[in-house]
Parts: sequence; C-alpha cells; structure tokens
Amino acid sequence: MTAPRRDGGSPLTPPRRDGGSPLTPPGRESRFSYLSHLECGRCQQRYDADVRQGLCACGSPLLARYDLRAVSAQVDRAALASRAPSLWRYHELLPVRQPAMVVTLGEGMTPLVPLPRLAAEWGIADLLMKDEGLLPTGTFKARGAAVGVARARELGIGRIAMPTNGNAGAAWAAYAARAGIEALIVMPVSAPEITRAECAIAGARLYLVDGLIGDAGAIVAGAVATQGYADASTLKEPYRIEGKKTMGLELYEQLGWRVPDVIVYPAGGGVGIIGIYKALLECQEMGWLGGKLPRLVAVQASGCAPIVRAWEEGADRAQPWQNAATVAFGITVPMPLGDFLILDAVRGTGGCAIAVSDEHILAAQARVAAVEGAFICPEGAACFAAIERLRKDGWIGGDDEVVAFNTGAGIKYPQTVRVRPPVLPAGSDLPGARAKTARGPSGPPRTRAQPAS
Ligand SMILES: Cc1ncc(COP(=O)(O)O)c(C=O)c1O
Ligand SMILES: [Zn+2]
Repeated sequence: MTAPRRDGGSPLTPPRRDGGSPLTPPGRESRFSYLSHLECGRCQQRYDADVRQGLCACGSPLLARYDLRAVSAQVDRAALASRAPSLWRYHELLPVRQPAMVVTLGEGMTPLVPLPRLAAEWGIADLLMKDEGLLPTGTFKARGAAVGVARARELGIGRIAMPTNGNAGAAWAAYAARAGIEALIVMPVSAPEITRAECAIAGARLYLVDGLIGDAGAIVAGAVATQGYADASTLKEPYRIEGKKTMGLELYEQLGWRVPDVIVYPAGGGVGIIGIYKALLECQEMGWLGGKLPRLVAVQASGCAPIVRAWEEGADRAQPWQNAATVAFGITVPMPLGDFLILDAVRGTGGCAIAVSDEHILAAQARVAAVEGAFICPEGAACFAAIERLRKDGWIGGDDEVVAFNTGAGIKYPQTVRVRPPVLPAGSDLPGARAKTARGPSGPPRTRAQPAS
C-alpha cells in the first residue's frame, strides 16, 4: 500500500509547509538552483541533498525538493523565453548548484510537431508529437543523463554504474565521458545493438547479460557493493528524474504556458512520466499553473505490462511480470521500482494505463512514418497505437488536444523495418522505364517498407 501523505497530498507533491527550508528573502541575490533537500516519495523522510544519497532507508526513491516559493518570487517565467534553448533554461528547478558543473551536449527544447493528417484520420482536434529523437544520443535519456551526470560530478562522484535497456546506458556513457567520469554499463543482450557501440566509443566499461534489466541490475548491485561505483540505476539516485522533468516544463512553455488535455507516454521504469507529473505539480505549487492537469496515460506493451495490470486491478503496487518480451525494448521493465509513483501520476490526473500489442506498435510506427514523415522508435509508436485505441473507445474525445511523446529516433531500431529494394545492375534502366516513357507516367509500384513481424 502506498503510505498516505501526512498532508493528504500526492507523494510527488512538495509539502505545502516544509518549515525547514529557508525562503529567499525579497531582494536577495538569485541562486542558480533552489534545491533544498531530498524527500522519500513514500515515507517523506528528509535527507541532505548535498551529500551522495541513494534510496530511502525504507527502500523507496528519493525526490529532489526545491524552495518553490522563492523560485516563484524570483523567477518571471515569461523571462525564460530569452534564455538559451536547452533544458538548463530551467536551472532554478534543477539540482545542479554551480553553473560550472553543468555538463551539456545541447540537450533540450525538442520540437512539438503537429500531426494534422493523423489527427484527421483518427478524429482528434489536435494531435502533437514531442519529438525526443532529436536529442544527443537520439533519445530522451539524454535529459536524465545530462542532469544526473552533472550532479554526480558536483557531488564529487568519479565512477558510476548502471543497468540499462540500452538507451540510458548510451546517454550516460556519453555524458560521463564529457564529465570525465568512469562508467560501468550492463545491458541485456537483446538491447538495441547500436547502444553497445555508443557505450563502447564513449569509453564505458560495457557488459551484456543473458537476461533482462533486473538481471543487469543484480550485477550492477554487486559492482556497487565491491568496486566503489555509485549506483546510477533508475530511481536509485535522485537526479535523473529531474532531467526528465524538463519534458513537462518544456511542453508547458512551448504551448504558451498552457497544458494539453491528454499526455501519452511509454512507461518502462517510469522516470519520464513521473518526471512530467512532478514538473506539473511544481508548476502548480509555484502558482504558474492553475486549473486542471492533463490526463496522463502510461502506455506499456502487452508483453510486459505490470503497471497496466496494477491499474486495472486498482492496486497501489505492481507485481513482477513473468516472461517479459516486446519489440519496444526500452519499456521491457518487469518490475519498476517507482511503480507506486507511476500509478499515482496516472490516478492523480484522471489518466489511464493501457497495453498495446507489438503488432499494433509496429503498425503505428509505419503509419506515423508514411502519413507524417517521422521515423519514430517503437516505444514512441506504442503511444500512437494507444491513442488510436483510446479514441476508438471514446476515452479520448474528438475535441481533445493530445500530446504524444516520441521518446527516441526510429533510426536506432533498424530491425523494426524490413525492406528489400530491388538491386539493379550498374548501367541498367529502371524496370519498365522504356515502356513507361512510351506509355506515360504510370510505372511499376514503388518499394514499400514492411513493418517487421
Ligand atoms: C526509447 C525509450 N522510451 C521509453 C523508455 C522508458 O523509460 P522510462 O519509463 O524509464 O521513462 C525507454 C527506457 O529505456 C526508452 O529507451
Ligand atoms: Zn522512505
């Protein structure tokens, strides 16, 4: 059972009166970060943010807390528009205290792309895609890595270790290299192959495990216990989520400080959706955001859907999913540590959790590319498969404004599309070219990509 908050709020809501964090007196010089302390997402135990921390003594993730009253007093959100287009524009709400500690490869401010043809096809007023595939290393994982690695460097950490489904490892390896931090990465053999090369070229110590992310996690736990690595596993350090939170801040700013009706997100470990919810709650707390929150939808694959099962059963915690397997490899997380936080994000906003099959994921990936020109990753495609179904079921209304997160570039997953174009001998004409010239423009059909099955 999720421990109820003493003040009745969500585990992600900052406490309304925290007493311990000094507010910035009016006129005091502004700070780069307004980080005040860490707080357990379950039992609300407070921890010092300026020493290295892992999980709470109760085993739950720690969340970064900020002096939000001071931020709202010091920061005019309209003035953010003149800042550089990177996630560091929200530095007051990020945990890195010194500007010199920032580690950046230019992450943030990804495009919010309208998808008018798909919207018309599915009967939705507005359908937008926040395209995270354009970030360094090709996925949204760059956000968590940039902030997590920068804060690790600030705290004097020289070696980090993490299990990964591939993309997070690639991102953390890149940012660790830039920060001069050693990285040990362990990923399942079935993780996207390109991510091995990304880790290796950045100089990470890389191992594959013949198993799933939990098996990689067990190996990392051993290295943390015996070899002095800091554990950078999902939600076992408090700062990755802060980087991912910027997806929510950016979306809100890009819509002109307005929120959509529905946000659809592919949830594995859940850091992305938890981060977006945390951002929205912090904006509420600062008085930046009034009115209704967007309904948050957690999308999983039917081959690994522990959160969907818990949501359907009305449970507060998920149970481990047996024999997990899906083409959307990033969301193959049989037992997420932040299960209760994901469920809280969904329930706290009147959202839902939905599972979609691999067949529908691949069909949606092909449809988005063919109709809107975007080659998205299978995890992102899961969102579109979910949107199509939720619209058919009436859960998404015709007047809704819907934002889907494409969490990565499709080009990182070449195996999701099989194509066999005809090979022509050098010096030859196109088949039927002569006849076509004589007959007019209609020639043989063009080669079409087939979704892999
Ligand atoms: C492309 C992609 N999308 C989504 C996810 C899910 O991430 P999370 O639920 O931890 O935010 C992952 C995780 O590996 C991923 O690689
Ligand atoms: Zn706790």
